[in-house]
Order: sequence, then C-alpha cells, then structure tokens
Amino acid sequence: MFIKINIFINSYYTLIIDLVDKAVVAFSGGLDTTVVVKYLQEKYNLDVITVTIDVGQNENYEKIKAKAISLGVKNHYTINCKEEFVKNFIFPSIKANSLYQKKYCLATALARPLIANKLTNIAKKENANFVAHGCSGKGNDQVRFDIALQSESSLSIIAPIRDLNLNREKEIDFAKKHGVEIEKIAKKFSIDQNLWGRSIEGGSLEDPYNEPGDEVFSWVTKCFPDRPTYIEIEFENGIPVSVNNQFRNEPIQLIEYINEKAGSHGIGIVDHIEDRIIGMKSREIYENPAAVCLIDAHFDLEKMVQTSHEIRFKSAVDEEWSRLVYSGLWNDPLRKDLDMFINSTQRNVTGLVKIKMYKGNLRVVGRKCENSLYNKDMITYGDNSVFDQTMSLGFIKLWGMQTTEANKLQKNV
Ligand code: ARG
Repeated sequence: MFIKINIFINSYYTLIIDLVDKAVVAFSGGLDTTVVVKYLQEKYNLDVITVTIDVGQNENYEKIKAKAISLGVKNHYTINCKEEFVKNFIFPSIKANSLYQKKYCLATALARPLIANKLTNIAKKENANFVAHGCSGKGNDQVRFDIALQSESSLSIIAPIRDLNLNREKEIDFAKKHGVEIEKIAKKFSIDQNLWGRSIEGGSLEDPYNEPGDEVFSWVTKCFPDRPTYIEIEFENGIPVSVNNQFRNEPIQLIEYINEKAGSHGIGIVDHIEDRIIGMKSREIYENPAAVCLIDAHFDLEKMVQTSHEIRFKSAVDEEWSRLVYSGLWNDPLRKDLDMFINSTQRNVTGLVKIKMYKGNLRVVGRKCENSLYNKDMITYGDNSVFDQTMSLGFIKLWGMQTTEANKLQKNV
C-alpha cells in the first residue's frame, strides 16, 4: 500500500513522495505468521515490522529474528513480557480459579490481550497504520486479538489467513512457492505454548475418538518416578509466593519449577471438547502441570478461609471471569469489576498447601493457615469437642421446616 504525499513548493514544482505504509505483525516464526509476512509484502505492498512477544514459550528468539530478517522485514522486535504475563494475567487467573468449562486454564487466551497491547505500542512507535495477525477465521484468537486491538487503537487490522480464506495446504503451498522453510512438526499439529500451558490441536486429533499419541506431548512424561514428590506452595492474598520455601520474588521460576516437577510425574494433561466463541466445538489437548497444581492448591486454601456463602457466590464469579477472558473480553469493564470483587475475597487467602504428586496423580494432602475457619476443637470426634451436639436438634427442625411441611401436605402425613 502506497501513500502519495504531494508537497507544493512553488507554481512550477510539486514534490511527490511515495511512502510505503507499514504493518506490525505478531510473529511466532511458525507457518501462519510466516505466510502473513510474505502476503503483506507481496499482495499488500506493505513494509513489515515483526514483533515476537516472549510469554515463556521457550523458543529460540534469535532464530525467530533471523527468520524474520530472512523474510525481508524492515525491523524486528523481541519483547520479554514474562514477568508482566505472570503478574498481570496468570496471578489474577489463579485468584479466579480460572478453568474454562472446568478444564482449560486459559493459557493462550490470557496471553492475547498482552500481545495486542505490545503490538499497539510498537505500531505507535513505528508510525504504522496497520497491524496484522496470523489467526484463522475459525478460532478464538482472531476474536481476542481484534477486540483487544480495537479497544486500544484505531489501527486497521489485517488477518490474511482469515480474510483470504486460506487453509493449511494453501499456506504450505504458498510458503513453498516463496522458498520459505516449514518445520516438520508444524505440518502435523497446531501448537501454541507459553509459561502457563501448551495447547495442541489439529491433525490426527481432529477425530475426537483418536487417543493422542506420544508425539503430541512434550511437557508431561509417561515414565513416572517410583517415589512421590511433595511440594509445599505458600500463598499470600491468593498469590503463590514460594514453593518449598524457594523462588521468593521469582514468580517465573516458581511456575517453571512446578511445570517441571508435576510434568515429570505425568500431571497436567487435559483432553477437552471445547465450545469456541464463534460456536464450533473443538477437540483440544493441553499440557498445563503448573496450572493444575496452583489452581487446585489455591482453591483448597480458599475453602479453609472463606465462608460457604463466599465460596458459593465466588464460584459463579470465577466462572463468569473465565468465560469473559476466554471469549476475548479481557478489556470489558465487567472483567475489572469482577477482579475487584475477587481481590477482596483474597484478603485471608494466605497459608501453605502441601501437594503430593505420584504416578500421574495430584492430591492436596495438607493445608495450614492463620485465618482458617476450620475449627478442630469443634469438628473432632474425640471427647474434647467443644461443640454442643444438642443444638443441632432445633436447627434441623427449622432448616427442614418447609420441606417437611410440603411433604406432609402432598402425602397427607
Ligand atoms: N483452544 C484454546 C484457546 O482458544 C487454545 C488455542 C491454541 N491454539 C493452537 N493453535 N493450538 O484459547
């Protein structure tokens, strides 16, 4: 795309400058975003600036940069956002016990608004009018990117894969024609990963009856150690602050450590039939060992310190939070309002949770905290109980009053 600028000098001369407009592209180095770069250059005549956001996907960022440069981009940025991702996205999701449809820890969904925000910043810095992504028109990420980008800027969004109705075959064909190398695994599955989880879809997994083969997994092993591992996770106001007394002020390493430990015990695989935002059902495989451990441990601690009323109401809020974030509405004011409620519920979520990992199983086996509502003196079956059991008699009469009355009327008791 060219912009023509006519600068009037005098009645004889007009300086005409052709400026090539720029597009900022979220670039992972994979098939989709590689094709996007080429498309923008070849079909849209745009100068391309690539941006790779490090949210803990553990890629070779130098290799990605080299790939971008080999595609002829004008500039490439690698931005390390791991800490921001953990503090501003993963931690709030732990406080919300966030599992979409009770299964998916939202790893991909949480990273999208962060990536969109960084793209917007680079576009401003580079004076670009376009922003592009490699999402298809079938998935959730197009919704998340577009809404986040539109909430933050008035950039024009280009999504070639969606807009040109491309499919993997056409993309591979296009890549080959332009001499672009495609890695083997990229042909088999579509993979997205970051610190919070790894998601694998497509290929043989599209048949929901097919069990995923070993080649699908890379974080979770099936060769378990013969001895269990125990970890103790310490929370402060709903946030994990140490594991086995280590990683204080090192939230990235804390999550990496649990991913590694739990993964090595075969924990964290999720095989999920998921309702996408745009209505389709999809089959998703996830590996998210740390998410499984931390959410389980966090919820366990909440149950120690919150009243049953708080727990019940919060679970509805948690579900709504997950639904909003999954469905691309991170920027909706409601999400911020829910966060205020959720943060308020975390005032006593401070304590220690002990987890046992063994042969693919994860179990909370101990918990300890100062502000617990758990009262051993009351619940004990021993003769030192301080609870007067005779009080229950009156309670049961009142509690069941309407139920028993209704039955009496119906059955003429
Ligand atoms: N279904 C998940 C989501 O929408 C993960 C998608 C990840 N993409 C992938 N190509 N594997 O958030």
